[in-house]
Amino acid sequence: MFVKHLIVAHALLLTIARMLYPGHLNNSVLWVANTLDFNKTYDASVFETTIRVVGGLLSTYDLSGDNIFLEKARDIADRLLPAWDTPSGIPYNIINLARGNAHNPGWTGGDSILADSGTEQLEFIALSQRTGDPKYQEKVEKAIVALNKTFPADGLVPIYVNPNDGTAYGTITFGAMGDSFYEYLLKAWIQGNKTSSVKPYRFFVPTLPHRIRPPFAHYRAL
Ligand SMILES: *[C@@H]1O[C@H](CO)[C@@H](O)[C@H](O)[C@H]1NC(C)=O
Ligand SMILES: *[C@@H]1O[C@H](CO)[C@@H](O)[C@H](O)[C@H]1NC(C)=O
Ligand SMILES: *[C@@H]1O[C@H](CO)[C@@H](O)[C@H](O)[C@H]1NC(C)=O
Ligand SMILES: *[C@@H]1O[C@H](CO)[C@@H](O)[C@H](O)[C@H]1NC(C)=O
Repeated sequence: MFVKHLIVAHALLLTIARMLYPGHLNNSVLWVANTLDFNKTYDASVFETTIRVVGGLLSTYDLSGDNIFLEKARDIADRLLPAWDTPSGIPYNIINLARGNAHNPGWTGGDSILADSGTEQLEFIALSQRTGDPKYQEKVEKAIVALNKTFPADGLVPIYVNPNDGTAYGTITFGAMGDSFYEYLLKAWIQGNKTSSVKPYRFFVPTLPHRIRPPFAHYRAL
């Protein structure tokens, strides 16, 4: 319900913006079409780039229907994809946008961070749905399957994950470095209309309420 309200509010704002600032909106479309260039020798965070850039472009595509936003979303997502080419399918968290070489931050001792590795599902699944190309969805779901292999019975995964074998160690937290992984499990289940194809996401969530106090406890109702 809340999501529907947000979408309605968003669409309304966009309509108002179109009426008040037609030139501005068109300028932003032109800027994206002509100036926005992702071919940069820049080490980008795979997670941040996914939620902000891929997500932002896809949302704008949904709201505007302008194909340029989908093309750009695909462009940047294609540049991120090699990050998932690891033995386990758990992505590296940093990738060079022009060169495509991926790695993890030095301070993790070479390991991937749980939240960084498990928070791309919504955007990549949405991209596959809109382009008809399953490769984006396949990459992000493989990471979930890999985590599932070592997933403890209580549903809580430590924050450091080895991209070679998928094993996880370290602190368990719903704060930084863990948080959005759990969020995305729930959101992917909702995005997939709670059908059998997204059951794996749901599978992770039910054990959580035993260990967590509200507001998480109401997840059971879903
Ligand atoms: C903005 O784009 C729309 C749709 O392409 C067009 O109808 C409108 O005339 C444009 N407005 C300006 C100020 O260029
Ligand atoms: C992308 O950037 C790289 C490195 O700067 C350059 O070698 C390459 O020609 C560029 N590719 C395109 C399509 O612009
Ligand atoms: C996750 O693990 C459970 C228990 O081992 C298994 O039943 C389920 O099929 C797995 N799901 C995926 C997506 O691998
Ligand atoms: C979920 O339902 C919506 C609305 O009916 C549909 O557009 C979307 O494609 C569905 N998603 C999946 C994964 O089936």
